[in-house]
Amino acid sequence: MRDYEPYFTEDGSVGLYSYSDKDVYHSKFGALTEAWEKFILPAELENMDFENLKVLDVCYGIGYNTKALMSFLINNVKINKKNIFTKILYYVSIGINNILNNKLKLSPPIVTIDDDKKYSFLIDCLDINEELIKLSPLFKTLKTPGEVFDGFVPQLLTCFDSYFILRKIFINIASRFYPKNKKEINELLDLKFKDMHIEKEYKINEYVNYILLNRLYEQFGSEYFNKEFKKIIREKKNRRFFDKSLKKYSQFNQFWGYNKSSRCTLSAFLHNIYYRYLSMRYKKGRFKTIESLFNVNFHINDARKTILALNVQYDLIFLDAFTYTKAPQLWSMEFIEELYKRTAPSGLLMTYSTSAQVRNTLLENNFYVGKIYHKKTGKVIGTIASKDKAKIKYPLTPYEIGLCNTKAGIPYHDPNLSFSSKEILELREYEFRHSELISSSKYMKIRRNTNA
Ligand SMILES: C[S@@+](CC[C@H](N)C(=O)[O-])C[C@H]1O[C@@H](n2cnc3c(N)ncnc32)[C@H](O)[C@@H]1O
Repeated sequence: MRDYEPYFTEDGSVGLYSYSDKDVYHSKFGALTEAWEKFILPAELENMDFENLKVLDVCYGIGYNTKALMSFLINNVKINKKNIFTKILYYVSIGINNILNNKLKLSPPIVTIDDDKKYSFLIDCLDINEELIKLSPLFKTLKTPGEVFDGFVPQLLTCFDSYFILRKIFINIASRFYPKNKKEINELLDLKFKDMHIEKEYKINEYVNYILLNRLYEQFGSEYFNKEFKKIIREKKNRRFFDKSLKKYSQFNQFWGYNKSSRCTLSAFLHNIYYRYLSMRYKKGRFKTIESLFNVNFHINDARKTILALNVQYDLIFLDAFTYTKAPQLWSMEFIEELYKRTAPSGLLMTYSTSAQVRNTLLENNFYVGKIYHKKTGKVIGTIASKDKAKIKYPLTPYEIGLCNTKAGIPYHDPNLSFSSKEILELREYEFRHSELISSSKYMKIRRNTNA
């Protein structure tokens, strides 16, 4: 049995529940919203020179952090139109050559496409779970019953009040039509469609999943769509979590190859072939131009092993591991030390954790450490670290630093990055019991009394 089960989180994006951890992978309030609020917005990319951004996504999972980042970048790059047209020319010539069975001998490309390329984005994605990585582009990143309902209704009718009443009723009853497959997650499955809400700017750009899918094809070849994988995406209870058009695209790619797909689509629209040909070529040229800006690599292994082989200074590091009490391996002094070595001088490391222990591990590794605030509620929702003090907008207060120096802040150790979770937890437990540090509760009590 697979360890995870999909469900819809409250913003309409798919989240996963883990049976072994009896816990969710993503916030039930919104997997995609969480990625934006904890990892993308705090980086303040709009104030950053992101032309040659290098990013490390530790615990890629089904890729929300990477997808949100790619969306931001795609929506903010300024593409030179000349570039798009040279790409179009290139693909038209490849198309003709295909039809002529490669008689033109066009390789290497007759048109250089990277003449005035200004941007290049490197994203290294680390995860131990190959299946999740392979599935990641196929999961729906946003689908609400409202959108489904709107699809059935002609535009004209949407101006009537009754449309909104019907829409509301539909949203409330939609969940009843879906099977509740597993007892453990019935509660989560019930969450869906109650009050789905997503900020407009958090939507995922339509190119993102296609870029990831193409990259996976390059990496896995025919192995991408193996028997086991086919079974998962065809399972009836899972179907509603996958994006139909991406699923079709991936199947089509597998069996027909990328270059033939456009010819097939064209034949269906003979009446308007000229117009359609041009517009599709433009779209494809634009897509290819944007795709060529991204160098996305998937590293499927224990992140502790992968990290040692990476020799890059990253501008952004997303640390989205399971909570430290369940998976302490990726929160240890030794692992964070490896991340420190790979952080660029003005780079940022972001995590959802706000614990004294994680913060102390970062401080002990010489990072400057600060807080991530929720833009609207003003609540602290994560931790940000950098080698550059000026990059920390909201540094820890003396009280919070004091808390890091209590027993609660004792870091995990993982000598040689090879201990099991159990060994790491036991080692800390031993240190905790023998430590002469003050307990966090005593510290808080003293501080309360001195402030009183
Ligand atoms: C909280 S989830 C990450 C969610 C993810 N960022 C997303 O957007 O879907 C934690 C991930 O850590 C991965 N993981 C657990 N232990 C790992 C390890 N030692 N090395 C690499 N990845 C690991 C799991 O496979 C899981 O996908």
